[in-house]
Amino acid sequence: MRTGNHHVRTQIAIIGAGPAGLTLARLLHLQGISSVVIESRSREHVESRTRAGILEQPTVDLMAEIGVGDRLRREGLRHNGFYVRFDRTTHHLDFNRLLGGQATVYGQQELVKDLIEQRVDSGEPLYFNSPVTAVHTGSDEAMVTFEHAGSSVELHADFVAGCDGFHGISRTHIPEDRRNELSRTYPVAWLGILARTTPTVPEGMYCAHPNGLSVHSMRGTRITRQYLQVPAGTSLEDWSDSRIWDELATRSASDDYPELERGEIFDKSLATLRSVVCETMQHGRLFLLGDSAHIVPPTGAKGLNLAVSDACTLSHALGGYYTAGVREHLDNYSETCLPRIWAAQHFSSTLTTTLHALSDDPMEWRLRQARLRRWSGSEAEQRALGEVYLGLPFPKPWHYS
Ligand code: APR
Ligand code: PHB
Repeated sequence: MRTGNHHVRTQIAIIGAGPAGLTLARLLHLQGISSVVIESRSREHVESRTRAGILEQPTVDLMAEIGVGDRLRREGLRHNGFYVRFDRTTHHLDFNRLLGGQATVYGQQELVKDLIEQRVDSGEPLYFNSPVTAVHTGSDEAMVTFEHAGSSVELHADFVAGCDGFHGISRTHIPEDRRNELSRTYPVAWLGILARTTPTVPEGMYCAHPNGLSVHSMRGTRITRQYLQVPAGTSLEDWSDSRIWDELATRSASDDYPELERGEIFDKSLATLRSVVCETMQHGRLFLLGDSAHIVPPTGAKGLNLAVSDACTLSHALGGYYTAGVREHLDNYSETCLPRIWAAQHFSSTLTTTLHALSDDPMEWRLRQARLRRWSGSEAEQRALGEVYLGLPFPKPWHYS
């Protein structure tokens, strides 16, 4: 391999082509700020990763504004809220009726495909199969080194946007003693499936059952996305299709709707549950966005939306810096993002602890039932949940004065 023989220069080096990196790249392009996006995996891999797929209203609005709203509008399923089922009874929480706005079901990888296509069409650089191996930030300049087609490339930039997910390299560039990281793990995981079946209810549904949570979502009228709470250390080999269907059926059994339809399962995966916030979202010329700075448990599907909201905040701050020489918004990037991140963390943690069976203590189940009855019976509770579920406004854009 030849090394160190390529030098490239841009304004913003973006590490990672997930929702955070791709959204940021587009927002910068619209402001005339140059960037290079560097992704370690192949385009096929990034476009086929099955992830959550619930877009908040502010996310959908932003995607329309930046020119990737067409397929999303055509193929996305708009939901007014979600269902919760417990004690064999189904309740619909209609947030749209109380608050306006909707959640849109659209697989994360579909949005990623749309953003990649747009980036490629714009002719701006996006490198796949190019792992970043080092990040340097100096007082005047930043640099990232990445491997590309057998060469090592030095990319010089004004700033680095770390959009490389939780296992990426960016966060580790911040010295441990300068990093304020808070985290919590849960003793459970989610086994997720995609199946060729018709949903039993027209919107997403959480079933809280003494055996644990089951989630019934969809990716179209004939494809369901469903999840089972499973023990943290479980292996996919222990979960045959029939065991999965039996458990989904047990947890979703009700007196008011037909039984769950069974069919071909064509995707199976496991995801761990944890809440993490690295409050130090910036270090010199490096900024962290999305999963590289924070992880939410999947309950409530906030991950993608937080990534997009961070991208929006950083792009405004960079816009202010390049167009008006205002440094303040860059300096305040973490403080600007964190309240919305913590609001989503609180929401995800509340949903997680209310909907999962995390202990054998009978008192715990009674307390969870009491909370579920409040959610299904009180408009005030539904408004509070709905505000966050449908999406709190993104941190306000600033006036560049
Ligand atoms: N060099 C280049 N790219 C890297 C590196 C590296 N050293 N390390 C990781 N990456 C890439 C990953 O391959 C991935 O494509 O960074 C990308 C990060 O994308 P995501 O994991 O999708 O993270 P983010 O854009 O923050 O989006 C958050 O993704 O993990 C889900 O559910 C989560 O919905 C949330 C969303
Ligand atoms: C999904 O459709 O992938 C989904 C739905 C609800 C959640 C999480 C994920 O809470």
